[in-house]
Amino acid sequence: MARQHTDQDELIRTMCELGSDVLANQKMQSLRNYRQHGDVSRYEHSLSVCYWALVIARAMRVRVDERSMVRGALLHDFFMYEWNDPNARRPLHGFTHAGEALKNASEVFELNAIERDVIKKHMFPMNITPPRYRETVFVTLADKWSATLEVIRTARQRRIVRMCRMVGLM
Ligand SMILES: [Fe+2]
Ligand SMILES: [Fe+2]
Repeated sequence: MARQHTDQDELIRTMCELGSDVLANQKMQSLRNYRQHGDVSRYEHSLSVCYWALVIARAMRVRVDERSMVRGALLHDFFMYEWNDPNARRPLHGFTHAGEALKNASEVFELNAIERDVIKKHMFPMNITPPRYRETVFVTLADKWSATLEVIRTARQRRIVRMCRMVGLM
């Protein structure tokens, strides 16, 4: 158990270091104001996806550009509206928000090819263009996994959210 917590600490520190400029950005911070699933904010969801992408990548023991994967994961849902507001009438949200996130993120950050691919294709297979990089595959899997945990509200997911709060991330 202690080992597991040490690993979680280390992953969260990695997120902090590699994503520091993204996390410090005001627009990124504004994602705290939007709900993603249940009582989880989009900011919390983005951090959680980043965390799980690192977990998956390390479990697979393959080389990844962790900095690009972290930045892409943090920015994968970089859009500023309530997607689940019934009055907003956004029936195509599932198909369009990745493109909108990429547009928004490109206006604020200098993005490399991996980061752009992660953001643009994280909704695969709903958006049918397949990922080009393994970093995108891991973020895509982490997004679905994290969303599932947020919806069913697991204790483990809550612990990860709490740990991120403790290091001042959320
Ligand atoms: Fe998304
Ligand atoms: Fe997401």
